[in-house]
Amino acid sequence: MSVSKKLQYKFSGKTTTYYFDVEFAYLEKLVDKSQAVILTDDNVFRGHQKKFKGWNTIVIPAGEAFKVQDTVNSVVDQLLTMGADRKTFLIGVGGGVVTDIAGYVAAIYMRGISFGFLPTSILAMVDASIGGKNGIDVGLYKNIVGTIRQPEFLLYDFSLLKSLPDEEWVNGFAEIIKHAAIKDAALFRELEKNKLSVYKKDKTALVKLIRRNAVIKSDVVQKDEFEHADRRMLNFGHTLGHAVENLYKLSHGQAISIGMVVASLISEAYTDFKDTDRIIDALKKYGLPTQMDFNAKEVMNVLRMDKKKVRDSMNYVLLNKVGQAVVKPIPIAELDKLLQSIITAR
Ligand code: GLY
Repeated sequence: MSVSKKLQYKFSGKTTTYYFDVEFAYLEKLVDKSQAVILTDDNVFRGHQKKFKGWNTIVIPAGEAFKVQDTVNSVVDQLLTMGADRKTFLIGVGGGVVTDIAGYVAAIYMRGISFGFLPTSILAMVDASIGGKNGIDVGLYKNIVGTIRQPEFLLYDFSLLKSLPDEEWVNGFAEIIKHAAIKDAALFRELEKNKLSVYKKDKTALVKLIRRNAVIKSDVVQKDEFEHADRRMLNFGHTLGHAVENLYKLSHGQAISIGMVVASLISEAYTDFKDTDRIIDALKKYGLPTQMDFNAKEVMNVLRMDKKKVRDSMNYVLLNKVGQAVVKPIPIAELDKLLQSIITAR
């Protein structure tokens, strides 16, 4: 394998190896098949059945609705039935729900087994599979229970994207635009010039883009794995985004797109940021929504339970400029008023 296809990140408790643009079958070089269990969802399993031949496999139902404790219990039951022990290696093959459940189960099964990921969606490739945070939702509260524990490896087989539905491509580009907005002004300009169909057709451009985004996220996580400082910037668009995602049953990409627009407008009130229009235009260009009528009171009720709330303030991720984010504490009462005025003004 050429060097450029392989990357390594040393995190606090683990070195994670990233294998870019290799085939699913490469898994056999990384783990002992007889001691490994793959966790996937029914969509991925149906779409790529042949690839799972000969692998111990647990299939969960697809969708965010299943990122809950009941699914974790069912996976643990199946691992026990299979005779999985502390030497069992768990591999999550799927999108963000699968990687979250796999990483979380691996953290708690027999007090922790090794795990790796093979992300199958754009969103999982650039975001969900990277960073070690893996958990589940409880009621309306997203990712409210979970662990931070890094995988042994991430394996990127881009051929799996062939069966990815259009709306999932769009979903993933929300996180790509987020990375550019908070960390990489040059990438933002590239995204402004290009369009989704270019990345869908041009594999070289896509591989470069995914790798660049994996590096942006991994660099941030490596510097601040347990989110005391810079890692919080990755939450750009996610504060309001998570609230509207569950309240109004939006996809993650749609929700954080709305969240990024609102965070940009709030930035204009707290920093010198003046480029909300560029953010909106880029999101629109990649098929993401930039406007919605939400009930500020309902949203505020969910925000009060957000992990980023500290006493009476919310640590909100704002932009100083495109490519540069900043975290500012905003008093909850002020946030309440700001949300009301944003809704009224639009
Ligand atoms: N699993 C996503 C993250 O750690 O940010």
